[in-house]
Amino acid sequence: MPVYHTLGTVPAKRHTVFRKPDGQLYAEELVSTEGFSSLYSLVYHCHPPTIVKSLGEPYSVAPKIAREKHLKHTSLIGFNIKPEDDYLQSRKPVLVNNDLHISLAAPRKSMTDYFYKNSQADEVIFVHEGTGTLKTGFGQIRFGYGDYLVVPRGTIYQMVFDDEQNRLFIVESFSPIRTPKRYRNEYGQLMEHSPYCERDIRRPSDLETIDEFGDFKVLIKKQGLMYPYIYGTHPFDFVGWDGFHYPYAFSIHDFEPITGRLHQPPPVHQTFEGHNFVICSFVPRKYDYHPLSVPAPYNHSNVDSDEVLYYVDGDFMSRKSVVKGQITLHPGGIPHGPHPGTVEKSIGKESTDELAVMIDPFRPLMLTEDAVTIEDEGYYKSWQGG
Ligand SMILES: [Fe+2]
Repeated sequence: MPVYHTLGTVPAKRHTVFRKPDGQLYAEELVSTEGFSSLYSLVYHCHPPTIVKSLGEPYSVAPKIAREKHLKHTSLIGFNIKPEDDYLQSRKPVLVNNDLHISLAAPRKSMTDYFYKNSQADEVIFVHEGTGTLKTGFGQIRFGYGDYLVVPRGTIYQMVFDDEQNRLFIVESFSPIRTPKRYRNEYGQLMEHSPYCERDIRRPSDLETIDEFGDFKVLIKKQGLMYPYIYGTHPFDFVGWDGFHYPYAFSIHDFEPITGRLHQPPPVHQTFEGHNFVICSFVPRKYDYHPLSVPAPYNHSNVDSDEVLYYVDGDFMSRKSVVKGQITLHPGGIPHGPHPGTVEKSIGKESTDELAVMIDPFRPLMLTEDAVTIEDEGYYKSWQGG
């Protein structure tokens, strides 16, 4: 996140003597990305973050591929993913490639007896249902309906839910998640034409230093395996930190739509980008105001990218029957378009209350075993009739 932030206490100069009230040194840690070349933070721990007591047996959490190659418009009924108590076990990868994994999750319980670190991917956790607190060493972030929680790789975290009704749509990105480059000036600041700005970004607050010894289980994900680590000190023992590498939240409800006299293309909805994909937000907005405008989208041949839509809320104008939590995948290689009747119906309409998240991966997605269990198999024929 290209905004400097600091919480707690840090020494006046980096890499200098910084002592606790009892005279012992705090443990400085540089958390850096792309070697030493990209975003980083400096963290000050009560104890070194290296005290490993024991290691558990790693186990596979790699997605099981059911359909590697396909050319069919596909729909998944996301809310048919069954709720499960445990946060990590509840996460079901459904669409994956080498750039990103898209998962659905309906966790019931908070994480209380372990911590989690994704060491190979940034995570974007879109909160469709539920409220709670993302707890990290960097501080805490309250979350609720419509929040994107962006958790950079290497962040140890816990999800604490207020109740058992939670639905999450999760993107693991194997490259850094960034704000769209075209909206940033040469200093990294979001420019005036950006649909959101730094004021909309919610950074961690309420840093709570937990100075404890014990047995602290951290499940660390790397290369499709989960490694159980037992550390001797609490992972949230930060007394202070500063830098640009930390988790943050952005609400889809704070995305200001860009509209025009004629139909605006999907890039106006872009919210984040990773290597080889973009994440877009479709939010309630006024329709195009040319007197002869057609608000529904045109038929579209995405020659070289797949398109994934995750339906959140509202009446999706170009689709005849969609339900909350539904995913459509329109693969590159064949055209897709509005459902029969929706173009005519859209003419003269002044606004829409649709809410959806779109992901355009530039390389084909594979379907997992969990995906095919929630597939609406007749979807590819849904353009028939009128
Ligand atoms: Fe499209």
